[in-house]
Amino acid sequence: MEISVTLSQNLKQKPQDESALGFGRIFTDHMFMMDYEAGAGWHNARIVPYQPFAMDPASMVLHYGQAIFEGCKCYRREDGGLQLFRAEDNFARMTRSARRMCMPALDEETAMEGLKQLIRIDADWVPRKEGTSLYIRPTMVSMDVGLGVHASSKYCFFIILSPVGAYYKEGLKPVSIYVEDEYVRAVRGGVGFTKCAGNYAASILAGDIAEKKGFSQVLWLDGVEQKYIEEVGSMNMMFAYGNKIVTPVLNGSILPGITRDSVLKLARQLGYEAEEARLNVEEIFADAKAGKLTEAFGTGTAAVISPVGVLALKDEKVTLGDGGIGPVAQKLYDTLTGIQYGRLEDKNGWITKL
Ligand code: COI
Repeated sequence: MEISVTLSQNLKQKPQDESALGFGRIFTDHMFMMDYEAGAGWHNARIVPYQPFAMDPASMVLHYGQAIFEGCKCYRREDGGLQLFRAEDNFARMTRSARRMCMPALDEETAMEGLKQLIRIDADWVPRKEGTSLYIRPTMVSMDVGLGVHASSKYCFFIILSPVGAYYKEGLKPVSIYVEDEYVRAVRGGVGFTKCAGNYAASILAGDIAEKKGFSQVLWLDGVEQKYIEEVGSMNMMFAYGNKIVTPVLNGSILPGITRDSVLKLARQLGYEAEEARLNVEEIFADAKAGKLTEAFGTGTAAVISPVGVLALKDEKVTLGDGGIGPVAQKLYDTLTGIQYGRLEDKNGWITKL
């Protein structure tokens, strides 16, 4: 599909201090959009100046929440060149989310082409400082106007870009996580495996309570027995027993993280044992107390690899490691980011150079 381009006549000032970017606060000069209509399919692919939407207050997404999104990143190599990491996998996952949410499959080819053109136009926004990147947020929402609960016939897909630093203010220092034992994130047969906006909306109350208690995030347990570890809303969880890594198995209620998949593959390539299993939270706590569990860390596009230093469940708290990142998380972080920033060879075909 042809992509039309309208350049902004009013370019914004780029951030001066790349050490103060934070996460998702600043957006670039342009965005990509395309529309869908039943019968016509995806059409009107365009790059336009970054701008607010005018929406009818009865637009279906505002009432019934058919909204899905993705998160991927573009990195600047030391030679100044730019590269994407597994963006095709993000678009493929969006199509899987769309199916479950009764939304149309994405035109993945046009989305990928639009993303490449958009980044080339806003290339100067890709930050240069170590540990920074350009966060990419593809989103699809339903646009029919009306209050009947049914699938919409119109959708809008857009991509916005944001130069970012670390997701957690702690950076690579370990975060504290509260194991949520009252609320649940997802149940089998639900939408836990999709990247739908509602999953995040449903997590905000527990996250807010945990934050007030001094924790960075909530670790969700399964929605039936509240016994098995699922994920932290913004990242998948991994646990290390020396050189063995375990992570919750994908069971339909956990997000199939692209960073999770990359870390599992890299871990095996680096000679670690890596296993997907049902992980009982009580056993994890017992192993941590007995000193058998040596590290815990989260994986995600925004979070990259984030070590977990404290896990708390009800009144019980376990401390992992010595206040810094553990050796397994560090090795995986160095390898993953080495590939993403072009310092290490990409043996898995994950990189698209722009
Ligand atoms: C990501 O890691 O890209 C996410 O979508 C997590 C979060 C910022 C919502």
